[in-house]
Amino acid sequence: MRIKNTNDRYGIVAVTFHWLMALLVIGLLCVGLYMTSLKISAQKLQLYGWHKEFGLLVLFLVIIRLSWRFININPTLPSSIPAWQRFIAHAVQWALLGFMIAMPITGWLVTSAAGLAPSFFGLFVLPTLVAPDDHLRHVFADMHEWIAYGLIATICAHVGAALKHHFIDKDDVLRRMLP
Ligand code: HEM
Ligand code: HEM
Repeated sequence: MRIKNTNDRYGIVAVTFHWLMALLVIGLLCVGLYMTSLKISAQKLQLYGWHKEFGLLVLFLVIIRLSWRFININPTLPSSIPAWQRFIAHAVQWALLGFMIAMPITGWLVTSAAGLAPSFFGLFVLPTLVAPDDHLRHVFADMHEWIAYGLIATICAHVGAALKHHFIDKDDVLRRMLP
């Protein structure tokens, strides 16, 4: 398998980023929804800690992933797919990339407004983005939550389309994102 993308398939770097980050993002959505439903306990605090660290990992990885995307060609969708569907597929891809920036940043803002500086796996501590403020913490927490619902809906559309291509249209769209 090639390192870089070609005109008709994704290379190993893009494929690794895709599946590793898909796993991370879906895991973070599940942990986020679960941890906020728990009563205060040591387990809840532990989950919050992991959620923040892996969430920040998504932010670092998406920056590298976008840089890789910009210095690479992107496989073109088969011409058998109508132009409006190709347009929507690209819009959804860019929305997903945008969500992978908006989610960690709003999470970082929630933590900052709570007066906490997030640590990155004990390696270093990131600065707070705003001064402690309880009202702002609620505003950012609401944003983080609503953006998460938008992300869940977009992932459903993206995965649904990928499965339709594979099982109904029987084309190569999913296969070219597989190792
Ligand atoms: C792709 C990355 C991320 C995803 C998908 C994600 C997802 C979620 C979800 C689904 C929730 C539950 C929302 C709710 O029901 O209120 C949540 C809560 C939370 N997340 Fe994230 N998150 C991400 C990154 C981060 C980061 C980087 C931080 C902090 C550095 C963070 C901090 C928090 C906090 C503090 C809460 C609890 C908010 C509250 O108490 O209402 N998240 N997250
Ligand atoms: C778990 C089920 C998933 C499946 C089956 C799937 C499938 C695919 C396929 C087949 C492509 C290639 C489309 C093309 O050829 O143009 C693709 C691209 C893409 N997917 Fe997914 N995907 C999944 C989850 C996710 C998740 C959770 C995210 C992010 C939150 C995501 C973000 C992207 C992005 C940004 C692209 C564009 C290519 C790139 O920049 O890497 N996918 N996906």
